[in-house]
Amino acid sequence: MSNSKEILSLIRNLIKEKTGITYKENKDYFLELKLAPLLKKAKCAKIMDFYNLIKSLPFDDNLFKEFIDAITINETSFFRDGYPFDILRIHIFPRYIQEKKNKKIRIMSVPSSTGQEPYSIVMTALEVFPDIDRWDFKIVSGDISEYALFRAKQGRYRQIEVARGLNAYFLGKYFTKINDSEYEIKKDLKKYIEFHKINVLDKNAIIWKETYDIVFFRNIMIYFDLNTQKELLSRIKDVLKKDGYLFIGSSEVIIGISKLFKIEKIDRRVIYVNSK
Ligand SMILES: C[S@@+](CC[C@H](N)C(=O)[O-])C[C@H]1O[C@@H](n2cnc3c(N)ncnc32)[C@H](O)[C@@H]1O
Repeated sequence: MSNSKEILSLIRNLIKEKTGITYKENKDYFLELKLAPLLKKAKCAKIMDFYNLIKSLPFDDNLFKEFIDAITINETSFFRDGYPFDILRIHIFPRYIQEKKNKKIRIMSVPSSTGQEPYSIVMTALEVFPDIDRWDFKIVSGDISEYALFRAKQGRYRQIEVARGLNAYFLGKYFTKINDSEYEIKKDLKKYIEFHKINVLDKNAIIWKETYDIVFFRNIMIYFDLNTQKELLSRIKDVLKKDGYLFIGSSEVIIGISKLFKIEKIDRRVIYVNSK
């Protein structure tokens, strides 16, 4: 087989099998563009040579990791969409402060991409809890992309990244300027987050072993087909505590979500609750 269209279709199938991500045929140009530097690096003259090489590689092979980094889309920002963090700050966290006697809070923030989402949750919590260190407060986070995960753990952001979503107050309070163009999240904030390499398709992934008060599972379902979405929703339901909250991306429409979760409107925004 030598037709590059056919090989790209095999690569799309391989991506789906390994990550769940569905690449549509009309994105082949994008895929080719993303893979071009890897073909060069792997000294593959043709896309077919690259496919033959990559399909046999294990997940922990360096080239395979770079392949995953190349095909994942790590688009994110601090306080993305605003309202989930407002709802945490105004409604959910104050209620926990009043009602949670065991002082234990578990939050899933997956995928982390480069870390802006879990760090935004921590900053929100620090603004609300009078003494968070008297709480057992933990965010479980991570991503399939090692590049994204490395950056999330590092917590270092360029000027253009901090300008997306952070105001001067948050930047001044929670970040240290490390040089002319980079800021780093203060070490103290990192202790509330456990970062792991996570493939959400993997039933044994660490995220499925905890139970959570709140799940952020945002801007990932859009890349998956209906069956994968359905399977993941039911896994989320299993790990979300009764009356726990699920946040998805503001532009994500997930068929069947309202069968599993109760829709609650807070400040005219829809969030999902596990009424069990
Ligand atoms: C668009 S970002 C979303 C980040 C963040 N949750 C947000 O809403 O801003 C999507 C992320 O999903 C990750 N991803 C894709 N497939 C995955 C999988 N099977 N398991 C874990 N992460 C995955 C990608 O690496 C990418 O960083």
